[in-house]
Amino acid sequence: MSRGRYVALEGIEGAGKSTIQDHLANALRNDGYEVVTVREPGGTSTGEGIRRLLLDGDDMAPWTEALLFAAQRSQLAVEVIEPALRRGAWVIGDRSVYSSLAYQGGGRGLGIDAVRKVNQAGLGPVWPDMVIVLIIEPEAGLARQEGEDRIGGQGARFQQQVAGFYQDLAGAEPGRVVLVDAGGRLDDVAEQTVALVRNRW
Ligand code: TYD
Repeated sequence: MSRGRYVALEGIEGAGKSTIQDHLANALRNDGYEVVTVREPGGTSTGEGIRRLLLDGDDMAPWTEALLFAAQRSQLAVEVIEPALRRGAWVIGDRSVYSSLAYQGGGRGLGIDAVRKVNQAGLGPVWPDMVIVLIIEPEAGLARQEGEDRIGGQGARFQQQVAGFYQDLAGAEPGRVVLVDAGGRLDDVAEQTVALVRNRW
């Protein structure tokens, strides 16, 4: 049994990640594969506890935030993602370590390399094989967003900065990080995303 593939959906608030995740998971299931979907922050009992701290809690220092994101991710990798990949399943993530690179490394100014290193320490071999960044105008994304959390409530300027860091990440790792225009109908975006993944492998 060969190792599975790990695909992560990324982007700023309201880009349509969870809708596209559903479409992609269904398409791969129709192809006959086992598909495991995960969301971050969360996805494990420990991780859901950390999610509440991160999203509903008080303001926190930038490194506290970054390390809590890394902590919930390490748990998810050990409990869910690594076992799934070992069984040969596809894992489709709504966000991943690339959110931390863009939001904490870039947006919060901690440095992409520093945030990458602490995450690598907690993830071992679990790293997305393909990262699909859904691109949307911050104003349009914020309008699409249902209910804001502590980080999603930072405003359009912060979203714009994060979007810029996603672009930089795509430039730095063109073989892994792909940008998809998500401004149009979500059905069309979903179709394009499914085609991208099927063509890659
Ligand atoms: P999420 O639940 O995906 O919210 P949304 O559906 O609004 O995109 O993510 C919650 C927030 O956490 C979101 O504002 C992005 C932020 N976030 C980070 O800042 N770093 C991370 O590593 C992750 C996974 C999320």
